[in-house]
Amino acid sequence: MKFVFTLAWLLLAAAVQLPVATRAAESVRPGEIWPDNRGRHIQVHGGGILKFGDTFYWFGEDRSQDNLRSLRYVACYSSTNLTDWTFRNQVVKLADPENLGRGWVLERPKVFYNAPTKKFVLYAHIDNGNYQFASVAVFTCDTVDGDYRYLKSFRPLGQESRDIGQFVDDDGSAYLIFENRPYGFRIAKLSDDFLNVEKEICLIHAPLEGGALVHYNGLYYVIGSHMTGWHPNPNLYATAKSLAGPWSKFKDLAPPEKNTYGSQSTMLLKIPGTKTTSVIFMGDLWRPETQWDSRYLWMPLEIGDGKLSLPEPREWTLDVTTGEAKIK
Ligand code: GAL
Repeated sequence: MKFVFTLAWLLLAAAVQLPVATRAAESVRPGEIWPDNRGRHIQVHGGGILKFGDTFYWFGEDRSQDNLRSLRYVACYSSTNLTDWTFRNQVVKLADPENLGRGWVLERPKVFYNAPTKKFVLYAHIDNGNYQFASVAVFTCDTVDGDYRYLKSFRPLGQESRDIGQFVDDDGSAYLIFENRPYGFRIAKLSDDFLNVEKEICLIHAPLEGGALVHYNGLYYVIGSHMTGWHPNPNLYATAKSLAGPWSKFKDLAPPEKNTYGSQSTMLLKIPGTKTTSVIFMGDLWRPETQWDSRYLWMPLEIGDGKLSLPEPREWTLDVTTGEAKIK
């Protein structure tokens, strides 16, 4: 009898879970709860993606409601189709390493893989509560989803750095994009072991943050948002034939009155496939008062000939083999 009850309960539980698992497998739905394999909303705010082998790893700020208030967390999820995500680990669970005090922040984590040293290197924006420390934190790990070890913090090129973005070019060189008030934002090359920010490539004189880059059909596209904190604004883009510039004028990514459909840029993800190459806009839909419930806006961009356009958010599907993205 007890066995029958247990079986019935398990079946019921499976039936309840099913819609979650099925929904996630079908499509990307901007702005909705994005459940992981456990049915919990994915926690990778201000995140970035690393492809390692055939697997995509998504890292970001873990702002789960039950996190300890004194620690800062980075979570990692994995996927082979960019739609279904498996929770791997809270790869960073860190207590204030620089004595920055209450309200210290660890934001916009990005992970690079350094082939020569076989190390995974995580950069994040580290700051105190009023954003005056303005530095990057560096962590390393021997495995992609292990526990990352805090190494150090510094100001890249000796400059104030707040929002950071990551970019790996087709030749494997790795770059950090950082917002550098009051000058604009800088694109800088990482050292051979990725543990330092070595060389300035370009200073773009535009007061933008949430910087992201993609190299598509011989042209670089950079995007960024205005500096309005958690509140959305019209994100902009510019293009250049070389990372060092000259960069074109900045233009609107979407109709300005739409405020980037409520989102803020965090990364541009290129998916080269057998039929085509798609570029995905990854943005955050911040919910400042309920951060754990902040959502994601991912959409395939209309891109080409120096133009970039974020379509109105709708449900869409991606085939990572062919590179095709289809808006429903
Ligand atoms: C935004 C920034 C976020 C976070 C927020 C705090 O401008 O992009 O990453 O720092 O400010 O207000």
